[in-house]
Amino acid sequence: MSKKLLLKNDHIPGIQKLDVYKANGGYSSMEKALKTMSADAVVEEVKTSGLRGRGGAGFPTGMKWSFLAKPEGVPRYLVVNADESEPGTFKDRYLMERIPHILIEGVIISSFALGANTAYIYIRGEYFYVARIVEQAIEEAYNAGLLGKNIMGSGFDLDVYVQVGAGAYICGEETALIESLEGKRGNPRIKPPFPAIAGLYGCPTVVNNVETIAAVVPIVEMGGAAYAQIGVGRSTGTKLISASGHINKPGVYEIELGLPVEEFIYSEAYCGGIRNGKKLKAVVAGGSSVPILPTELILKTANGEPRLMSYESLGDGGFATGTMLGSGGFIAMDEDTSIIKNLYTFSRFYHHESCGQCSPCREGTGWMEKILKKILDGKGTLQDIDLLWDIQSKIEGKTICPLGEAAAWPVAAAIRHFRSEFEAYVKHPEQIKDIKHYYRLNTTA
Ligand SMILES: Cc1cc2nc3c(=O)[nH]c(=O)nc-3n(C[C@H](O)[C@H](O)[C@H](O)COP(=O)(O)O)c2cc1C
Repeated sequence: MSKKLLLKNDHIPGIQKLDVYKANGGYSSMEKALKTMSADAVVEEVKTSGLRGRGGAGFPTGMKWSFLAKPEGVPRYLVVNADESEPGTFKDRYLMERIPHILIEGVIISSFALGANTAYIYIRGEYFYVARIVEQAIEEAYNAGLLGKNIMGSGFDLDVYVQVGAGAYICGEETALIESLEGKRGNPRIKPPFPAIAGLYGCPTVVNNVETIAAVVPIVEMGGAAYAQIGVGRSTGTKLISASGHINKPGVYEIELGLPVEEFIYSEAYCGGIRNGKKLKAVVAGGSSVPILPTELILKTANGEPRLMSYESLGDGGFATGTMLGSGGFIAMDEDTSIIKNLYTFSRFYHHESCGQCSPCREGTGWMEKILKKILDGKGTLQDIDLLWDIQSKIEGKTICPLGEAAAWPVAAAIRHFRSEFEAYVKHPEQIKDIKHYYRLNTTA
């Protein structure tokens, strides 16, 4: 289970540079696509591969591409989502920093497949230095005739631009990102119309995650059918996982989908176990938005089957006993972790990042933050736990974009699986441990 497709060359010195990337097989997929394949054939390979979006929702990429409207005389755009602001997720940064040309190569192939002559890479503001790395790679590609007019004599033209965001999580939501690219405040749009019909500047647009676009390179290289052989079931291929928290070896790992969660946590090839010999208490498997699971449910499904790192297995049991693969932001928490404090940190984040358009999200995130602070202050009541539950249930499904769900799901899951911990906090406030740490975190004055 150690198949590497995206990071197979990340250890090679100088791989950021075009000549080294090319010397290690780089841009051969692009050449194959532009010289020997039609645009439709590339889309077919991506469909056959079973690739699902790596930005969080896991929507089939080939299907998304085939929805793209193609009205005569209207430009189409490819937008790469490099906003990567989901807490716990840092794999796109790693990929862009280490192997920027795999992204550029993926952008060229994908734009060719979609008939887009302009592509944008929207990078989060805090990744300013990463934007510089990507810009340098783009410049090298232009100088080598891999971008611009008539790429490698194929007749295909492509310009690629980097746009740096201003540090708003909401701009990772695809329609907010498009608004931001257009120079407006990053407020999500009401859908429909979807970007495939009316996206950037009202034109048909595909928005894909960095990793999704990079995965197109090995798909074209090996063929969609061969890619579909990797992984498990409808979770095909490999996935970059950002591993953080109380593990011995935090970092970015490329796994073959279907790897048992237990192996991922405890094997030396990956996280190397829980640090300081502690016990695992809980895991947030797919970035801060996805439901937290206690140890017994993250390692095994409700039926006692080993839980696998796949869209289906992590989702097994729905939210009653399961979670989501999401963006692959895997946060492990040891036995000393306070679920309530962790939840408070997440809730502060979502309140801060809510764009404020929808009342349930704007108001609800603020309420949840306040109630959690009250509980941490030792002033909570049993009714507050029910109130928290009530508030989160009134956000889910009632907002323009899924930031509402992203804020509500962690609260729901924490209460569902760790209610006794909430009750201990309100019944025995004098026993709230590590209170100094909590106050240090919040002392701004
Ligand atoms: C609040 C919010 C933040 C998001 N942030 C990101 C992000 O940083 N990167 C990303 O690729 N997708 C993000 N998404 C998902 C995008 O809206 C979109 O589904 C994704 O870019 C599609 O690409 P994919 O199909 O390749 O995954 C976010 C969604 C929401 C609701």
